[in-house]
Amino acid sequence: MGKKIILTGDRPTGRLHIGHYVGSLRRRVELQNSGEYDEIYIMIADAQALTDNADNPEKVRQNIIEVALDYLSAGLDPGKCHLFIQSQVSELTELTFFYNNLVTVQRLQRNPTVKQEIKMRGFSESDDGSDNKAGTPVGFFCYPISQAADITAFKATTVPVGEDQAPMIEQTREIVHKFNTTYGEALVMPDILLPDNAACLRLPGTDGKAKMSKSLGNCIYLSDPAEVVWEKVRGMFTDPGHLQVSDPGKVEGNPVFTYLDAFCKPEHFEKFGECFVGKKVSFEFHSLDEVKAQYRAGGLGDMMVKKFLYEVLNDTLAPIRERRHALEQDIPYVYEVLRKGTEAAQAKAAETLAGVKRAMRINYFDPGVLDELIREQQEKYNNQ
Ligand code: TRP
Repeated sequence: MGKKIILTGDRPTGRLHIGHYVGSLRRRVELQNSGEYDEIYIMIADAQALTDNADNPEKVRQNIIEVALDYLSAGLDPGKCHLFIQSQVSELTELTFFYNNLVTVQRLQRNPTVKQEIKMRGFSESDDGSDNKAGTPVGFFCYPISQAADITAFKATTVPVGEDQAPMIEQTREIVHKFNTTYGEALVMPDILLPDNAACLRLPGTDGKAKMSKSLGNCIYLSDPAEVVWEKVRGMFTDPGHLQVSDPGKVEGNPVFTYLDAFCKPEHFEKFGECFVGKKVSFEFHSLDEVKAQYRAGGLGDMMVKKFLYEVLNDTLAPIRERRHALEQDIPYVYEVLRKGTEAAQAKAAETLAGVKRAMRINYFDPGVLDELIREQQEKYNNQ
């Protein structure tokens, strides 16, 4: 049996939020602790972040440490996984260069995530050279190919990511197939691992918009202080039709309930039951289904549910926040983790790149290969 290897990562363009947490980070920690994986690589994708931040490298540079702090405080353990910085593994760019030839422009243009991201970033179709009509950077357009290099460099079998990354894994699988059938089996076919809970696939923003995103200002960050989390929860969008407490409320599309679906555990009902004790009405709930049923029937106010959600969120976030405060006092340790992790990642990627070059027969100066090459070429001329 082949090894089981995980590779995944995030762009360092900001601190990580609870969408990252339920979409991928929480799962990574579980997988790490399951003991089922032989190697785990977690990448801070600074080179990918630069594909649409070319003019702001300082933002990317500043956020490497933020993401590293979020990783460690969420429970990633450098004793069990390699945390590394993408740009410091130059083998990845070399792999990308060879994979570029295995993908067509038309195929990239069909990638739904790239399409959507181009739209979101406002890259213009009619780039006329002026600043306000800038088109799509080539590096950005091609980032799915570089992502295939990230995944294959580590011979990853498993890529735990959010749903929006599915087209990237699909693209990677196509590249692996094309490479292996063209040059020989040098690359490992990866599988995507999506969150198993529908609410976690794509956590909406606090404003109910489809995606939690820094630019929309609708995120709850892992590092937010408790008061900030409460302010954000208090201000959350709910069911706009739920005007009076007595009105029936909608649970579907109501982000307060989506967050509860993602974070609530059975023990929370005993732990935080007092949230549902009020001056006028009180409830005793034992499951989220019971809370939902009451909300649908009417009589359960948004404020009670929000107080409960705050406690539920804080139950997960408080220990993360505490670990972060401790780590913030030990920045040398964090960089040492990244340096060591990058060293291990680089060694692995170099091994894969050597295999790729061997398969493509572009390893001209490898031991033994040069002698053979000389013999072959000399013979060609001797026979003329
Ligand atoms: N695209 C991912 C993101 O937006 C980051 C990333 C880069 C990644 N390379 C990867 C994720 C390889 C998984 C595998 O956060």
